[in-house]
Amino acid sequence: MCGIVGYVGSEKSLEVLLGGLKRLEYRGYDSAGVAIVDAAGELHTVKRAGKLSVLADELAAHPMANGSTGIGHTRWATHGGPTDRNAHPHLGDDGRLAVIHNGIIENFAPLKDELLAEGFSFTSETDTEVAAVLLGREFRATGSLQEAFRRVVARLEGAFTLLALHQDEPGVVVGARRNSPLVIGLGDGENFLGSDVAAFVEHTRRAVAIGQDQIVTITPNEVKVTDFDGNAVEVEAFEVAWDAAASEKGGWSSFMAKEISEEPDAVANTLRGRVLDGRVVIPELEAFGDDVLAGIDRITIIACGTAAYAGQVGRYAIEKWSRVPVEVELSHEFRYRDPVITPTTLVISISQSGETMDTLMAVKYAREAGARAISVCNTQGATIPRESDAVVYTHAGPEVAVASTKAFVAQITALYLFGLHLARVRGSLSEADQAEYVAELLAIPAKISHVLESSESIAQLAKWMSDSRAVLFLGRHVGYPIALEGALKLKELAYIHAEGFAAGELKHGPIALIEAGQPVFVIVPSPRGSAEMHKKVVSNIQEIRARGARIIAIAEQGDAAVLPFADEVVPIPLAAPMFEPFLAVIPLQIFAMELATAKGLDVDQPRNLAKSVTVE
Ligand code: AGP
Repeated sequence: MCGIVGYVGSEKSLEVLLGGLKRLEYRGYDSAGVAIVDAAGELHTVKRAGKLSVLADELAAHPMANGSTGIGHTRWATHGGPTDRNAHPHLGDDGRLAVIHNGIIENFAPLKDELLAEGFSFTSETDTEVAAVLLGREFRATGSLQEAFRRVVARLEGAFTLLALHQDEPGVVVGARRNSPLVIGLGDGENFLGSDVAAFVEHTRRAVAIGQDQIVTITPNEVKVTDFDGNAVEVEAFEVAWDAAASEKGGWSSFMAKEISEEPDAVANTLRGRVLDGRVVIPELEAFGDDVLAGIDRITIIACGTAAYAGQVGRYAIEKWSRVPVEVELSHEFRYRDPVITPTTLVISISQSGETMDTLMAVKYAREAGARAISVCNTQGATIPRESDAVVYTHAGPEVAVASTKAFVAQITALYLFGLHLARVRGSLSEADQAEYVAELLAIPAKISHVLESSESIAQLAKWMSDSRAVLFLGRHVGYPIALEGALKLKELAYIHAEGFAAGELKHGPIALIEAGQPVFVIVPSPRGSAEMHKKVVSNIQEIRARGARIIAIAEQGDAAVLPFADEVVPIPLAAPMFEPFLAVIPLQIFAMELATAKGLDVDQPRNLAKSVTVE
């Protein structure tokens, strides 16, 4: 949930750290800070509450010494409010050592008591400062930052990625991770560490992911990885698939606007290389084994937030095409309800970041209970794929805006590909049906482009509705998760109360919410699909219209049935009913973004949120 960067190389740490933190700021932006060891071997630290720009302004007004060794941090507060004192880095060994941290040290209180009893003092309320003081004590005892790390991590409980430097060891940064991300960037005469590859991708695209319970020591010309016992660990480098430009705004008003515009490519790139002569073959699942897939008798999809809604959409397709029962569970609920898990249970986790702690812990729980696990993930080298039996990467490119958009449609794409792959393996779909659904998938990028090109009316509608106090969303079948996602977008971007309902559920209570002028978005199923379902949704529209609701219908081009009852109709291109979610969600994403913009809000970094929630 925090962004961390480490650097060793030439006398440019400050530029590298600030550049990396800028790209990581979406992971948390309550406060930011840097620590650098200068050429004279002296440690300097500057940190400020607020966004990274506050730190940058401070450094512009009061330049700090530069150096070849540095660490930087942008925070999403867990222990202690977003203040200067609680900002990272935190110091140990009388200010000669600096530490930054991503995660939560669950046993920090008894450790703090132990240190207080020995006469150590603290300036902040954070768990991180306890690690810093502990590291300082062990550095005094061992004279080695790496050895000090080994002793300290053996005593910590919880989730942590820690980076540290010491002024007595210029040119050295040491890091350790447990249940929290850390990747190495391999340079020439310089090396990098980061929460994810965005921290250093402008300098190098050669990366190494650090595994669970490992310690890494970087110097300008060497990278050493060991386990917590000090045993050397073999690591494998990978090439980052996108460049720095891809994570820049590229002239768009916001990352969110840019990423919505990239949704056609997100789908197309996720399909690429997985469709062959009208059939789906997912190469990453080859190692998993068709025989194993054929033996699966239950699928549980686990995820959080928007990813969970993608899972709910995917559930309809996977179950219908493969005839395997599919359930969707919120990760943080799943492992606490003592679920029945057998060796023929398949758990599919969905995570854009691949670091969501709730989902990571649920995957570990399921695998320990004997389930097979497949990860749908958008971030190469992330933790959740490494904790799974196989990964189906989405190829949406870096998603920087906290509110997920292109990753959402890419996740649905990956789930539909999986459903068709599984149906092929199980022989539960005819060749003709497989070919038909593959053709529908291949047509989606162009159809999304069409929706994007005709989105001006949505922007106008958002401006007109910018003073709305509550907005409802209705959908049925695969439209129901889209109603939930539309509501979430509005909540997290425009801070407006919004709620999604299954259209059929309204009359069982929620219809009491309808009053004159109440805006209600309705995702209308295609009349070319289930005529009965279409008719029922049109009836639902009439029921709420009769009570004064203001209806905005997301409906298929040419659907005349809704015209008499809707105040606004947002047309979407024709698509087979199962494929409507790809198109219906786009106007809802744009609506939420435009309404938030009309309210003068920051659509890329909404209040209280972080891009990757790496604490439970
Ligand atoms: C989506 O707009 C939200 N930012 C949030 O719900 C997000 O989808 C959720 O936290 C899961 O994140 P993940 O996909 O990285 O696991």
